[in-house]
Amino acid sequence: ALIRLRDYRAPAWRVETVELDFDLGIEATELSARLLLRRDASQNLPLRLDGENLQLLSIALDGVPLPATAYRYTGNVLEVDGARDGSVLETRVRLRPAANTALEGLYLSGSHETGFLLTQCEAEGFRHITFFPDRPDVQSRYSVTLRADRARFPVLLAGGNPDGSGELEGGRHWARFVDPHPKPSYLFALVAGRLEKIERDYVTADGRAVQLKIWAEADAIGRCGYAMDALERSMRWDEQAYGRNYDLDVFHVVATHDFNMGAMENKGLNIFNAKCLLADPDSTTDDEYRHVEAVVAHEYFHNWSGNRVTCRDWFQLSLKEGLTVFREQSFSADMNSAPLKRIEDVSLLRRAQFPEDAGPLAHPVRPAQYSEINNFYTATVYEKGSELVRMLAGALGRAGFRRGMDLYFERNDGHAATLEDFLGALGDANGTDLMPYLAWYGQAGTPRLKAHGRYDAVRQEYTLTLAQHAPGTAGAEPRPALPIPVKLALFDRDGGMLPLHLDGQTSEGITELVVVLAQVEQRFVFGNVASSPVPSLLRGFSAPVILECDYTPGELALLLGHDVDGFNRWEAGQQLAARAYEDLRDGASADALQAWCAALALLFDSHGIDDALLADLLTPPGEVELAERETAIDPQHIHHLRQRLQLRLAERLGAEALHQRYLALAAHTTIDMDATSQARRRLKRRVLELLNLLDRARAGELAAAQYHDAPGMTDRLAALTVLLRGQAPQAASALLDYRTRYADNALALDKWFAVQAQIPDEDAPERVLMLERDPGFTLKNPNRVQALLGAFVRGNPSGFHRIDGAGYRLLAERLIALDALNPQVAARLATAFNGWQRLESQRRGAARAAIAELAGHHGLSRNLAEIIGGVLNH
Ligand code: ARG
Ligand code: ZN
Repeated sequence: ALIRLRDYRAPAWRVETVELDFDLGIEATELSARLLLRRDASQNLPLRLDGENLQLLSIALDGVPLPATAYRYTGNVLEVDGARDGSVLETRVRLRPAANTALEGLYLSGSHETGFLLTQCEAEGFRHITFFPDRPDVQSRYSVTLRADRARFPVLLAGGNPDGSGELEGGRHWARFVDPHPKPSYLFALVAGRLEKIERDYVTADGRAVQLKIWAEADAIGRCGYAMDALERSMRWDEQAYGRNYDLDVFHVVATHDFNMGAMENKGLNIFNAKCLLADPDSTTDDEYRHVEAVVAHEYFHNWSGNRVTCRDWFQLSLKEGLTVFREQSFSADMNSAPLKRIEDVSLLRRAQFPEDAGPLAHPVRPAQYSEINNFYTATVYEKGSELVRMLAGALGRAGFRRGMDLYFERNDGHAATLEDFLGALGDANGTDLMPYLAWYGQAGTPRLKAHGRYDAVRQEYTLTLAQHAPGTAGAEPRPALPIPVKLALFDRDGGMLPLHLDGQTSEGITELVVVLAQVEQRFVFGNVASSPVPSLLRGFSAPVILECDYTPGELALLLGHDVDGFNRWEAGQQLAARAYEDLRDGASADALQAWCAALALLFDSHGIDDALLADLLTPPGEVELAERETAIDPQHIHHLRQRLQLRLAERLGAEALHQRYLALAAHTTIDMDATSQARRRLKRRVLELLNLLDRARAGELAAAQYHDAPGMTDRLAALTVLLRGQAPQAASALLDYRTRYADNALALDKWFAVQAQIPDEDAPERVLMLERDPGFTLKNPNRVQALLGAFVRGNPSGFHRIDGAGYRLLAERLIALDALNPQVAARLATAFNGWQRLESQRRGAARAAIAELAGHHGLSRNLAEIIGGVLNH
């Protein structure tokens, strides 16, 4: 059954207060819920509550036990007769946490003997715990009492402020938490078990003393310090950048190895996938460190953008997710290098969101309908959603955006809001109308932006024509033009920036400005232009579009060499490399390839450039991005072409120069986490990878030494990857060493599975089968599934898409087994079939057969069925 945005109705019943009383146990947990009900008098509807396969033990209305004739429970809806405004409904249910493999609702993390209990409720997990109107526009005050055996569950946590605890008979104890802030049910959480903690005192800018506590199992608590620092930085940043203070006396964060997603912003009790929280130099790479910092910030920022102001319904999901990703990205840019962060974010957008938006699973940032909401926690809702907020922020400027956000929080505090509320507040605070941007939220597909420049030497004028068109939507209704902000600069042929005089206006000294394309096509005329310029367009990636501009290779090389916008410099290199790739593929001229290599060779020797940026400049677009340029995709051919492209670059730089650079960088190896040390490691890895293409023996020796001497995971994993890619003789012993060294470190072991799953050779499917037989592999742990199967289907295009279809069959078989355990994880993995229609015909046939067989399987979850149906039927 499809849920539709246009069918939204306000809730007929609300819950003013909730009292939950848990008797916790691993095998069985019982809980009583006491709901104070409020009825919307304008709707004359019976009381209907969500409740998913709950074992109902007792039910009473206004203190009177209900006879079986007074209520009906279908397995997902409980209908109760006789409820009035102000009625109190009491239910008692029994749950089976240890049997819950879906990791939604109340479940067990770890073993029966030593594991702990926790909850995950977003989006609709609360209905797996108790009967409730489980929708975000019902906001209630929660009091939660937990009771359990003290020895087995020494730590008892729930959201809100602590409100007492004590002993009970028979070695049991209790703890109560009261949350003063009304919240939707998806933000409920509890945790109970044997956990250790680290603590820090924090005082908010508005003077509240807060205890920050991070909890983890004993073997992990030593790796929580970095997250604590990141949390404190996030709290300060939100005070300064947005004037937002924390609003409870405690802030709990818990790490678990068993989690379907990255992390969850439950009010006062954030729960994290361990891979997004734990960090130490021995087991965490630099990229992962930055990811931990970003996710800690993301969940913390949700306290305002998500919790204090929540979503009216799940169609508005990007209201909190797109906004919070934007806030998180801005924070990371402030804490680290802003241009590098932008490159990372746009790369992710192109790798994950553009293909999604171009395939059968494409949906608007605000979807119009869904069958299973968990399938809509997508790159489109998150990453494209963030890009839309970025455009709005850009349109208002720093001060204007802050004014708008202040008004948004003020107007909607304690409410469940819509995207219209968001755009309305941003616009009203600035006396401007941002509603035209709403069109961005309602249409799927990546818009194309065509740019064409014409220079008139006589009039000294440069005319830039910009035009937009929506992606292939045959038969669809005509779409409104989108407002597309284009940040631009003009360069002269020596690489200097020209002053900009747009449409006769003269503004002294302006060399960069934003024009907004508001119609299908528009012309912008720049005066006083002394010579034919090279435009730098869409600087900083000012809009999430695909730019089509008829640059010559020389013009792109000029931007690559001279653009001062770090992002656009990288972008020019990416465009040039993509051209070189297409020329290689088509056997066309080598102009672009030569221009790319020559420009990079200059930068390589110049030393005037940040090591990390240089590493990124030396990396051509990935295989997934290159595939977006093809009509009949052959991933193995793409892989080989991209390898040839990199080999040419390596040849241009030269084995000697690469080797010397490697040694110079290696001489400074540390395990420090400062930007310079991270940048050095990044470039060192890239240089070693390029050398590995030229001279495997030499690179293999360097990598083997680097593996053994590595002071931290970044260097160790990089070396291991190089050994595996080069099929070095030292690879086997390094793999064995790693397996033994990290036998008890789940997060490090995940990477052992992932690097091997990503080896891009013919044997990849068989290698995955072999790795599945490792005793460390299990389908029950989402991180392990992601590490092996996820890395294979998403991180190894040429291996997964082997022409005989072995990869597709393997995925289809695993999806069936996985779906029976954990539908959310199965559905996410299944999106790897997205794009199969654009494969060349033999692979397409094999993929279709595997998907069709899967679709015919009996009893697929709603999650998986929706993805498979979507992938097949378009
Ligand atoms: N709200 C969480 C976050 O982005 C993610 C929850 C994902 N939930 C899901 N059912 N997929 O911070
Ligand atoms: Zn989020």
